[in-house]
Amino acid sequence: MSDAWFTLRWQDGAVVMLDQRRLPAEETYLTLTSVEEVACAIEDLAVRGAPAIGCAAALGMALAARESRAHSGTELHADLASAAERLARTRPTAVNLFWALGRMRSVADRVCSGDDVEAARGELLAEAENLVEQDVAVCRALGDAGVEIVCDGARVLTHCNAGALATAGWGTALGVVRSAVAAGRRVEVLADETRPFLQGARLTAWELARDRIPVTVITDNMAGHLMARGEVDLVVVGADRIAANGDVANKIGTYPVALLAREHGIPFYVAAPLSTIDLDTADGSEIPIEERGSAEVTHLAGQALIPEGVPVRHPAFDVTPARLVSGIVTERGIARAPYAETLRSLFTPG
Ligand code: MRU
Repeated sequence: MSDAWFTLRWQDGAVVMLDQRRLPAEETYLTLTSVEEVACAIEDLAVRGAPAIGCAAALGMALAARESRAHSGTELHADLASAAERLARTRPTAVNLFWALGRMRSVADRVCSGDDVEAARGELLAEAENLVEQDVAVCRALGDAGVEIVCDGARVLTHCNAGALATAGWGTALGVVRSAVAAGRRVEVLADETRPFLQGARLTAWELARDRIPVTVITDNMAGHLMARGEVDLVVVGADRIAANGDVANKIGTYPVALLAREHGIPFYVAAPLSTIDLDTADGSEIPIEERGSAEVTHLAGQALIPEGVPVRHPAFDVTPARLVSGIVTERGIARAPYAETLRSLFTPG
C-alpha cells in the first residue's frame, strides 16, 4: 500500500486525519485539537468506516485527557467519562466505536486511580496509538486469511468503502484484495458507487487507483446486470456490526447485493475484524440503524435532485441475513455457518 497518505494518526499533540468528504478532488488533512472536533468529524463523515471510527474515538479520548484541566485522577476520570459520552453519541451502528471507547475507559479506570494526571495522559495516548497500530496489523492478518477465497483473475464486486480509508490502513474487504494482489493473484475490482455518499465512487476508486489495482466503478443498479452476464466472480464487503447469529449490518445497499449474489450463485463474503462482531447483539433486528439527515439524499454537490418539500428516507445501513453470507473473514480465519457457534469460538481460540 502506498505510504504517501494516511487515514488518521496522532501528530504533535493533535489528531490528524484525511478529510474524506473532499476526496477525490482534494487531499486535505484536518488537524483536530478537541474532542468536540473529533466528534463532529465522525458525525460529518470526514472520517468514516467502522474501524476508522473506533480509531478516531480512541485518539479523541487521548485528546480529551490532554484538553482536561484536571488536577486529580478523579477529575480526569470525570472529564474522560463525558468525552466518551459525547463520542458515543456520534454514530450508532458501527460497534467498533463502542468497542474502542470501552478499551479507553478501562485504561482510564486503571490510570485515574492515582493522582499522577500527566502519567495517566501518557498511558491513554499509548493505548490509543496501540489500538491504531493494532488495527493495521489485524487488517493485514484478515486480508491474508482471505486470500484463499480470491482466485487468480477474480472479478470482485464490493460495496461502499471497506478499504484503508475505512481503517487505520490496509482495509478489510479491500484488505483481502490487497493481500490477494500481494500474493500474486490478478484481481479486478468492481466498485458500487454507493448512493448517497458515494463512498465507492469517491473513496474505493481513489485508494485502489493509488495502489494501481484495477478498479471499475458501476452505479448501484448495474450489479444485477453484470452478475447475470457472468461478469462477477465474488462479492466481498465490510461490516459495521455483525450480530452473534451472523447477521451483518453494512452500508445501505449491501443487502440487495447479497440477494443478487445468491440468485446468481456468486459467493458473498464479509471481511471484518473481531472488533466488529457484537456477541451481545443476538441478531440483526437488534442492530441500531443510523438514519442520517435528508440533505445527503436530496442534494448532490450542492445541487437539488428532488423537488423541494418532497420527503426522503435515509437509513444509512441495512442488514444482510446470515443465510446469505458465504463466510466471514476475520484475523483469526474464516467463519462459516452455523455462525452462532463459529463466531463465538473465534473469541476463545485453541
Ligand atoms: O457510513 P460509512 O461510510 O461509515 O459506512 C461504512 C461502511 O458501511 C463500511 O462498509 C464498513 O464500515 C466497513 S469498513 C472496513
